[in-house]
Amino acid sequence: MTAHGCANCAGVAPDHDVIDLRSDVVTTPTEAMWEAMRRAATRAQPFGDDPSIGELVEVGASLLGKEAALYVPTCSMANLLALMATTEPGDQVVLESTMHIVWSEGWSLAHPGGLFPRLLNGIRGVPTPQDVADAIAAPRFGRTPRTSLVCLENSHNNAGGTVLTQTQTMAIVEVARRHGAAVHLDGARILNAAAALRVSVSRLAEAVDTVSVSLNKGLSAPEGALLCGPRRIIDRARRAAERLGATSLHKAGIAAAAALVGLTTMADRLADDNNRAASLAKRISEIPGLAVDLTAVQTNIVLIELTGVMTAAAFVARLAEQGVLALMRSPRHARFVTHRLIDDADVARAAEAAARAAPQTT
Ligand SMILES: Cc1ncc(COP(=O)(O)O)c(C=O)c1O
Repeated sequence: MTAHGCANCAGVAPDHDVIDLRSDVVTTPTEAMWEAMRRAATRAQPFGDDPSIGELVEVGASLLGKEAALYVPTCSMANLLALMATTEPGDQVVLESTMHIVWSEGWSLAHPGGLFPRLLNGIRGVPTPQDVADAIAAPRFGRTPRTSLVCLENSHNNAGGTVLTQTQTMAIVEVARRHGAAVHLDGARILNAAAALRVSVSRLAEAVDTVSVSLNKGLSAPEGALLCGPRRIIDRARRAAERLGATSLHKAGIAAAAALVGLTTMADRLADDNNRAASLAKRISEIPGLAVDLTAVQTNIVLIELTGVMTAAAFVARLAEQGVLALMRSPRHARFVTHRLIDDADVARAAEAAARAAPQTT
């Protein structure tokens, strides 16, 4: 449970106990992270060669089973650099239409990417291999555009945290390779996916060329993400980052030291977040006026559908009045995300608040 009175908690009295389920980005650093940051501050290198960043990229690349890694401030930037490092302006990129790269970062495909997005429908965020093959091969006005990249997302945020298995990933990678395209995996929450599938994260990322991973979400680090892949592509990504003015991360070793603690000690507890999401989803699904597809609750995200007349905005506002924060995802959908600061009692309280906020009590 978090106690604070921030400006984001609209409609909630100050000095309240807030259960913040809007996102796992609300996690704060652990004591071990603060300690690591304090130690790192004395040796942080403002002009490159920072020891914490060096160690973080080495550990991250090895964890993800890739040759090299680049530390960047956000996972959006890791995704953008993957696009820039594996494509040329004018290329076509194949993406499922609700993935984060489209839905939330889409403008960077146009600029600075200069890319044409070929959008596909997916089932739980995953297009079929055949749809990917058809999209790559389809001519446009008599010529077939060059598709240099196919993007995937695991877990899939907008689909409600659903996971992509190794087999599903490999089937799409195989199609992409056959057509000479690389595959980038937005793995912002790949560690949650690996925990849900009970496979190592390196196995899950094995088939793809590049994979991004967030350090600032379930792992609780204050900021940062890694882009992992073959050294040749990571070198290109670094050059792209230079063009964006994103390599002068002076003293970033302080945050990287916390991220290292996250990467090495926090992954094992993500299964708890996944389990709490399942328990919360089950309780919410029993509330009249709210619906949850329990089979889609596979990691730490619970997507709630408002089935009556109440809008998601009104539902979220009523929850906020009770000190429970959720995110509106559409006029009819709200979202809960579990994370380290949410315990079993918070899950129970959030479910009770949802029952009081639900449409039939109006
Ligand atoms: C799937 C996915 N990819 C990328 C991002 C972007 O991460 P960041 O906020 O670090 O830019 C998010 C953020 O929620 C996400 O859910």
